[in-house]
Amino acid sequence: MQRFEQYLSDNLPQVPSFHPVYEDALGVMLTAGGKRFRPMLLLNIVDAYEPMLYNGALPVALALEMFHTYSLIHDDLPAMDDADLRRGHQTLHKRYDEVTAILAGDALNTDAFLLIAQAPLREDVKIKLVELLALNGGSRGMVLGQAIDCYFENKPLSIEEVKILHRNKTAKLIAVSLQMGALIVGLEKSIQDALYAFGIDLGLLFQIQDDIIDETQSEEEAGKTTGNDSDKNSFVNLLGLEETVLEADTLAKDLQRRFEDFDEKLQTALEPLMNTYLYRHTKD
Ligand code: IPE
Ligand code: IPE
Ligand code: MG
Ligand code: MG
Ligand code: MG
Repeated sequence: MQRFEQYLSDNLPQVPSFHPVYEDALGVMLTAGGKRFRPMLLLNIVDAYEPMLYNGALPVALALEMFHTYSLIHDDLPAMDDADLRRGHQTLHKRYDEVTAILAGDALNTDAFLLIAQAPLREDVKIKLVELLALNGGSRGMVLGQAIDCYFENKPLSIEEVKILHRNKTAKLIAVSLQMGALIVGLEKSIQDALYAFGIDLGLLFQIQDDIIDETQSEEEAGKTTGNDSDKNSFVNLLGLEETVLEADTLAKDLQRRFEDFDEKLQTALEPLMNTYLYRHTKD
């Protein structure tokens, strides 16, 4: 984590120009913090299997965090969730203006792919990494999820449809973080696929927990605007808080069983993250 934070602060987008706030706007949400869940999923796998590739993986981990941060900057815009607080700071459109926030998001999205392209890794691996991030973050993944999320505000979906929404907007980027780590260290395809499938359900749980946070935490606790999901197809709105916590509990137990089937090296690599994020908001 420390190495990642250091790498991030050493590699913030540097684009000096006569624009008074542009360069700051690119970096401020990256340095503001966050759990760094996606980059740590990737880096912990790399560290466990091929620590020699850790430096090569750092730009890819930063690409994931940049891509995720772009999605948050746009998610907070007035046209989407209209949120004032993110990672304990004013959202970009509040701090500057909407144009700056839109463009900072655009830049982080594109620059994520630049980082992967320039990483000191094998060319064939990098092409595959670009493909995986695009498939899971773009029109077939996160963006689709966000489109469904916003289009169906105040139009209740079925719980199966909400799962599809959550898998796209959140789970695919989490799942692909595991897969990209596995790809970098050359784990075989069947293990990559198993990790991806696990990551999809882990990501679904992560978003269900996020729906619980919106309902139960203050903005100080969460570091972001909460109580903001009243128009949304969140799990809490569809099932109620109690039922949602039960659903999260069931999913966490199922994930724990599946986690124990992974080889020991993988379990050791991911255990700290699982312990921190699997059991938030579950019953016991
Ligand atoms: C928030 O993601 C949005 C979701 C996809 C649930 P995180 O909860 O990972 O936010 P940060 O990165 O810690 O700020
Ligand atoms: C956003 O989900 C997921 C993204 C793809 C950014 P939310 O709208 O629930 O995330 P928060 O609660 O604002 O962090
Ligand atoms: Mg949203
Ligand atoms: Mg939001
Ligand atoms: Mg939320």
